[in-house]
Parts: sequence; structure tokens; C-alpha cells
Amino acid sequence: MRMGEDGRKERLAHLGREERRRLLCSEHPDLADSLARAEDPALLSDLSEKMIENSISFFALPFGVAENFLIDAAALSVPMVTEEPSVVAAASFAAGLIRLGGGFTTEAKEAELAAQVFLEQVPETFCQNGLDQAEREALDAQLGALAGQVLPSLIARGGGFAGSSISALSGIPGVVRADLRLRVCDAMGANMANTFAEAARKLLEDRTGGRALAAILTNECALRLAEARFSLPVKLLRRAGQKGEEIARRLMLLSEVAHHDRARAITANKGVMNGITALALATGNDTRAVEAAAHAWASRSGRYLPLTRYGLDRGRLTGEIILPLPLASASSMAGLHPGALFSLSLLGSPSAPRLAAIAAALGLAQNLAALLALVGEGIQAGHMRLHTRRTP
Ligand code: MEV
Repeated sequence: MRMGEDGRKERLAHLGREERRRLLCSEHPDLADSLARAEDPALLSDLSEKMIENSISFFALPFGVAENFLIDAAALSVPMVTEEPSVVAAASFAAGLIRLGGGFTTEAKEAELAAQVFLEQVPETFCQNGLDQAEREALDAQLGALAGQVLPSLIARGGGFAGSSISALSGIPGVVRADLRLRVCDAMGANMANTFAEAARKLLEDRTGGRALAAILTNECALRLAEARFSLPVKLLRRAGQKGEEIARRLMLLSEVAHHDRARAITANKGVMNGITALALATGNDTRAVEAAAHAWASRSGRYLPLTRYGLDRGRLTGEIILPLPLASASSMAGLHPGALFSLSLLGSPSAPRLAAIAAALGLAQNLAALLALVGEGIQAGHMRLHTRRTP
């Protein structure tokens, strides 16, 4: 058996399922009970009734752990729920290379979410002039007080109202949009944003002279950016018959192709989301919200672009990903779902920004693995089969 730098990482991929579970739980003793609960059929069946309507059963998917992640100097095993073969192995493989280069560095903004209130039949004078500075400040003070009334537990946790803006919608006479921002702590925030926006309808009607049309969060989530980067010596990319420099050149060329070819960018981003969605699912998050925000961000310039970027810097390949990640690390779903609780414990009970940073690193690893396979032996031989056996 081949041993990695830190011993366990290499072993985990080569063990059988039972041994792997034992090893994981022996390193995190508190996880053994949590894992047992995550697969208790009675608990899951009961849960399915609580989670949705007309439930008939519980639908199972493979639950894996990607290895080798070093993120901001912390070694991590990353839980992933996915139906796609080789995705977990590919992430582990690329994370291993990146670890040898020093690991990922990340940044993630404090979790904020915006809700929108659309108002119709707003008088022409308001549509043209909006609010002046004093009126805006007065409105924000009222909205801040309202947040205290309708979201007391969020305020108690240190979150709350973060600001507003109101503008007439161009192209639709008499329609105005109010954006209400909330700091949502470790929640995804959808329910809180919707509750707050609905509660604010009356106030906004009074202010604008219009009538509320609809109040709902926006899944754009551009306020919730997470970033991950790595830099590794190109010689680490060396494979039989090919120098690391040549592989890095081809990888960067393929990445550049995605910046010029929309169809390729869509596929590359799908690969990024192979990792991020698997982590979102494993942690009990709303995968559609995460996907919507990512693809909207990819097309923010009016062109659909890849989420990752690569460069060469003094013999090192650099990689970067930036995207919005509306992930909760504390939510009613995570609180209910034993698999999500297990995943969050495995990650060391991260804050929401930390979970977003881990997801960004995972997405970048997934993309690096795919690009290496594509410019190397091809996706069928490389991505779909050999990653499970290769080690950096
Ligand atoms: C397959 O699920 C994902 C890839 O197609 C991503 C890519 O092409 O970059 C391999």
C-alpha cells in the first residue's frame, strides 16, 4: 500500500468501504454515532415525511469523502453526495497535487442575501425622483427596526438588516423595485429574506405611494462571493511521456478556449458544479440556489464565461475560482438531516463563509482534474477510470 505524506490520505482511497468508515470515525470519534444516524432507515423514513409532502420513501445516493484537501493550512476531508462515478476520485487527485504545491488559499464574504419587493402603480413623480438622502436614511431606520421585530433570532445571532435601495424599473412604467439586504449569519437566508420582504411591503407602499406586487429573495447572490486559489510547480504535472510545462501549456490553452467558446464554458462550469453541488447536497443545502447563482455569475458580463482562470508564474501553475455561494452551515434542513449533520461535523462545523470557501476550493479542484484529464489521456481513460488509481 502506498502511503502519502500524511499517511492516512493515501490509505483512505485504497481501503474497502468498511475499513474506510472505521478509519474516518477513528480519527473523528464523535462521528461514529453521527454516521450511524445518517443511515438509520427508520429515522430517514420519518424525516422524509417531515421534509416534503406526499412522501413515499427516502431516495438514497452515494455518500463519499474527497481526500487530500489542504485549505488555508487546514487538512480536510470533504463530504460529497453524487451519482457520478470518478468525481470524488478526481477531486481527491487534484487536491493532492494542490496540497503538494502548498494547498488552497481562500476568501469568502460575510453571508448576505437580498430580497426584492416589486411595487406597481407607483406615481410618476416617485418613479422619476426616488428618495432623497434624508428619506433613504429614514426608510433604512424603519427597515432596521422592522428586522428587529420580525427576525429577532437573527438579530440575536449578530445578523440583521444591512441596507436598501429603491429604483424604478426601466421599461415598465409605474413599477419600482426595492432591494433589501440582510446579513444572514450561517443561514442560507431564503426564509428570513422572504419573511422580511413580505413584512416590509406595507412600509414600502407608504413610502412609494404604490402597491406591492411581489416580495421574494433574489437568487442572484452576487453579495456572497467566495474565492479559492492555488499555485503549484508545473513539474508536479509531469506524466509519462509529457513534461509538466507542456501539460500546463495545454491546460491553460483549453481554459482559454472556454473564455472564447460558450459551449465549452458551459461544460467546464458543469464540471466545477460536479464538486460544489455534491458538497451542497451532502450538507443539506439548496442545490438549485447554488447552481442558479453560479450560472448567473458566469454570465454577468452578458457573455457566459468559465468560473475558473489559470496562469503561469515563475514555473508555477496558478488557478483561481470566484463565484457566489449561498450555502448554509446552520439551517433547519441541516438540523434535521443526519447526513448533513455528519458532513458538517466532518468539516469541523464551519461558518457559512468557511463552507463557501471549502466549496470554492472543491470546485477549483474538480476543474483542474477535468482539464488535466482532457489535455492528457482523455476523459474516458483519465477522468472516468484512472483517477481512482493515480496518486500525485
Ligand atoms: C463531466 O461530468 C465534467 C467534465 O465534462 C468537465 C469538463 O469538461 O471540464 C469532464
